Amino acid sequence: MSDSTNDPLVIFTPSGKRGHVPAGTPVLSAARQLGVDLDSVCGGRGICSKCQVTPAYGEFPKHGIHVAEGALSEWNAVEARYDRIRGLKEGRRLGCQAQILGDVVIDVPPESQVHRQVVRKAADTRAVHMDPATRLFYVEVKEPDLTDPSGDFQRLKDALRDQWQIEGVSASLPILGRLQKVLRKGNWAITVALHRGHGDRESRLLDLWPGFHEEAIWGLAIDLGSTTIAAHLVDLRDGTVKASAGAMNPQIRFGEDLMSRVSYSMMNPGGDQEMCRAVRKTISGLAADLARDGGIEGRDILEAVIVCNPVMHHLLLGIDPVELGQAPFSPATSESVSVGMPELDIDSVNPEGRVYILPIIAGHVGADSAAVALAEEPGKSDDLVLIVDVGTNAELLLGDRDQVLACSSPTGPALEGAQISAGQRAAPGAIERVEIDPLTKEPRFRVIGVELWSDEPGFAEAVKATGITGICGSGIIEVVAEMRVAGIVDRHGLIGSAEQTGTARCIPHGRTHSYLLHDDSEGGGPRILVTQGDIRAIQLAKSALYAGAQLLMDEKGVDHVDRVVLAGAFGAHISPKHAMILGMFPDVPLDRVRSAGNAAGTGARIALCSVAARAEIEAEVRDIIRVETAIAPNFQDYFVGANGIPHLSAPFANLAQIVTLPETNFNASAGAENRRRRRGQ
Ligand code: FES
Repeated sequence: MSDSTNDPLVIFTPSGKRGHVPAGTPVLSAARQLGVDLDSVCGGRGICSKCQVTPAYGEFPKHGIHVAEGALSEWNAVEARYDRIRGLKEGRRLGCQAQILGDVVIDVPPESQVHRQVVRKAADTRAVHMDPATRLFYVEVKEPDLTDPSGDFQRLKDALRDQWQIEGVSASLPILGRLQKVLRKGNWAITVALHRGHGDRESRLLDLWPGFHEEAIWGLAIDLGSTTIAAHLVDLRDGTVKASAGAMNPQIRFGEDLMSRVSYSMMNPGGDQEMCRAVRKTISGLAADLARDGGIEGRDILEAVIVCNPVMHHLLLGIDPVELGQAPFSPATSESVSVGMPELDIDSVNPEGRVYILPIIAGHVGADSAAVALAEEPGKSDDLVLIVDVGTNAELLLGDRDQVLACSSPTGPALEGAQISAGQRAAPGAIERVEIDPLTKEPRFRVIGVELWSDEPGFAEAVKATGITGICGSGIIEVVAEMRVAGIVDRHGLIGSAEQTGTARCIPHGRTHSYLLHDDSEGGGPRILVTQGDIRAIQLAKSALYAGAQLLMDEKGVDHVDRVVLAGAFGAHISPKHAMILGMFPDVPLDRVRSAGNAAGTGARIALCSVAARAEIEAEVRDIIRVETAIAPNFQDYFVGANGIPHLSAPFANLAQIVTLPETNFNASAGAENRRRRRGQ
């Protein structure tokens, strides 16, 4: 950069960066000097077109300059050729070709920014800047001659150092074996896919192409859950998702929940390896499906980021999870893991491809929570946020700028509809929304796959295709909360009799009562009941969640949180109001509760798109305070208090402002009734 004010002034937008540069400086060089984010794959050789900019002419009172017609050099032959063959949008110039001759304002369009903002979540301003670990670099390598008979790889490394300032590059034997042919075929010009390590990790050559290669390279963002595995095929140039696929975790056949898989491994020699092979095979199959659905070659998939809980983590890596099943719940490693795709038997992708697994927070709080922290950034929050990742094993984060704490809570699968008498997966036909009239106690509901409510005209016809098959997780939360508001269930979670509640829908069921939500038995259809056992299962699950949150709050020394974020694929479907009525988390104003969708999956995408984000979360995880619920002395007390709906003692003042909960106690009134009967009154 020049400090002479006689030199032309260049102002870049939208960054606002400005400075004087000597006349004749290419726009790309000026951008680099001023720290402006302008992309280039070919290093300014007029091949890649990544450096496109839009100069603006005329008066700019805001900047105090006038941009004359001749502020940039005339179109040159390279630009004319590019325009002829590929077409340049009107008003665009190639930044590496256009030279600055006079004062000028230059706009850098989003697609020309390396660190462009691509992952933006709904209802949030969180932005992610593209900075993937694996990128393409075009280099021109010096030809060998008798005076400099150094190795081709050494001269390629020199070129990377001189042209891209990248040092410390390594290559596998298969890559070295291809290098000589590719260099000569490209006439000493070559494009390399380079995986840049962060921290003290080295950079590796993952693939080579002769000349300039401009096809996309791809990455996989994988959320490996204990029940399902979700994978996205992501364009590593701009972060867009080209295809998504999901599969059931095949380890389910070895045990529904995490601890039963740990037990399977303990009881069956080689069981851990069996589960490892099963999950690796499924991931490999998902990668192949995504390549096919995305219309790309599997070998163009060069990276994957996987997020998962600690047990899934160990079983994926082929590590026996037995230590995670017993105190002190120590993982084999809690640091991030970077391995080659073949080491995880992912064989449908580039054999040089790399896998990055986020760090584990604690023995029960995994890389999936680290990914949630990456997506939701509790450590950057001005107010105190509680993030609840609802799943079979709920993981909680509580934090603000000062400190972030984490724990897991054994909720079991009830909140996902399992262990519920009429519970089922969220699939067409499942009841997902419920309302109960507090006066008549009559329900209306909606099922997945049908837009109409059950009391709307046309519902019976519309539901024929799917049937009404059961209640999914969000449906069970709504129905229990609605039963509480309608006075069908009391504060202790007891379902009243028909006499106590005033509805014939409360029917005796052994020594307890059930609420009849839907009855199609005459038409040969199902009879869907909410039983006392269902309410108990929900109470146990939500009490574990609440108690976990309370332990974190104790550790932090606070008696309330400012806001709550519900994460997890299931969290996205929960109605915040109904979750609050149940007392799934501490009382906050309803408008301070938000669903973040699959935040772990978002975190995986962020880590795939940004090597800086990986370094950031690795540092942050080291500072997170772990709270172990299994050994906390207060856990049981908190758990018992949280058994009430919403709670046995906490006032839930914010909730009281939006709903009035009846003060019924069916146990007491049943007792009085029995006593009256005995006295013959
Ligand atoms: Fe590649 Fe300009 S930097 S065309």
